[in-house]
Amino acid sequence: MRVTVTGASGLVGSALLASMLARDFEVTVLSRDPRRAVAGVDAFAWQPGHEPAPVEALSGRDAIVNLAGESIAQRWTEATKRKIHDSRAVGTRHLVQGLRTLAEDRAEALPPVLVSASAVGYYGPHGDEPLDEEAPAGMDFLAQTCQAWEAQAQAATSLGIRVVQIRIGVVLARAGGALAQMLPPFRIGIGGPVAGGRQFVSWIHLDDLVGLINVAIEDQDWSGPVNATAPEPVTNRDLAHALGRALRRPAVVPVPGFALRLLYGEMSQLLTTGARVLPAKALVLGHRFGHPQLDGALQSALSAEPRP
Ligand SMILES: NC(=O)c1ccc[n+]([C@@H]2O[C@H](COP(=O)([O-])OP(=O)(O)OC[C@H]3O[C@@H](n4cnc5c(N)ncnc54)[C@H](OP(=O)(O)O)[C@@H]3O)[C@@H](O)[C@H]2O)c1
Repeated sequence: MRVTVTGASGLVGSALLASMLARDFEVTVLSRDPRRAVAGVDAFAWQPGHEPAPVEALSGRDAIVNLAGESIAQRWTEATKRKIHDSRAVGTRHLVQGLRTLAEDRAEALPPVLVSASAVGYYGPHGDEPLDEEAPAGMDFLAQTCQAWEAQAQAATSLGIRVVQIRIGVVLARAGGALAQMLPPFRIGIGGPVAGGRQFVSWIHLDDLVGLINVAIEDQDWSGPVNATAPEPVTNRDLAHALGRALRRPAVVPVPGFALRLLYGEMSQLLTTGARVLPAKALVLGHRFGHPQLDGALQSALSAEPRP
């Protein structure tokens, strides 16, 4: 397999690359700074916000995986919100523009599949109502960003490319993301439920996400939006207690929502609200999760090697 990956230097991309290289895939990465690419891959420079993706990095590939995007885990100013939105919507438009150029100017074989990241933020904040892929999009900033991101990826279907939009939940990994942020207070016994703890956290173990992306590339039955979440989302309170159990520490110190709002502004909604997102389509397609239960997933994530 010859695969090109954007955002390959991130938490998900690094793990995906490792899995692909272990299977002897030929991997190309598109990066804002190709000098940081890991050994064993071809790296091309690409500024997703400013230019179409270079056709040399797309031509003759069996799949494209699009993971690039400005981190959402930062205080949201108007400027950072624009970056979060545009790095995904404009970046994906430029990626598809590269594919269109390949189809029109060079008459070369197009990659048959584009697997493009999205997020469970697509659905916006919900109570405890279970949500499958048919649920409507939310109205808030992240939901609008995800809609624009998915729509830009969907445009590749007009070129005859199969498109899978992976609506990713909170990725559990020791190397980064939400779990790595939670660990320091929980390790010293001052962690606990956030903002009452009733909001749902739709999570997925990093290895399961990597497995799901690989299946989406290879299985022709996968297309359109697919929720990448474990089958049993939990409340924030349950997550805090499970993490306390995994670390053998108390996890009872509540974190008030107003403190998070003071600290992080609008971004605090990532922690204080949630949605109960189910992997309905993946299960119908026969996908099996390696880490379907939270306790086992946390044990596994915490015992993983830290990223070098
Ligand atoms: N981790 C999660 O819990 C989670 C949950 C839901 C959705 N997702 C989505 O899944 C994708 C991968 O997640 P991740 O956790 O691996 O993200 P990450 O660690 O933040 O990495 C994202 C990658 O995107 C590129 N990037 C960063 N800022 C950018 C910008 N301003 N413009 C264009 N590219 C930029 C970087 O690659 P280069 O420096 O090489 O260009 C970076 O390595 C993201 O799009 C994220 O929104 C992740």
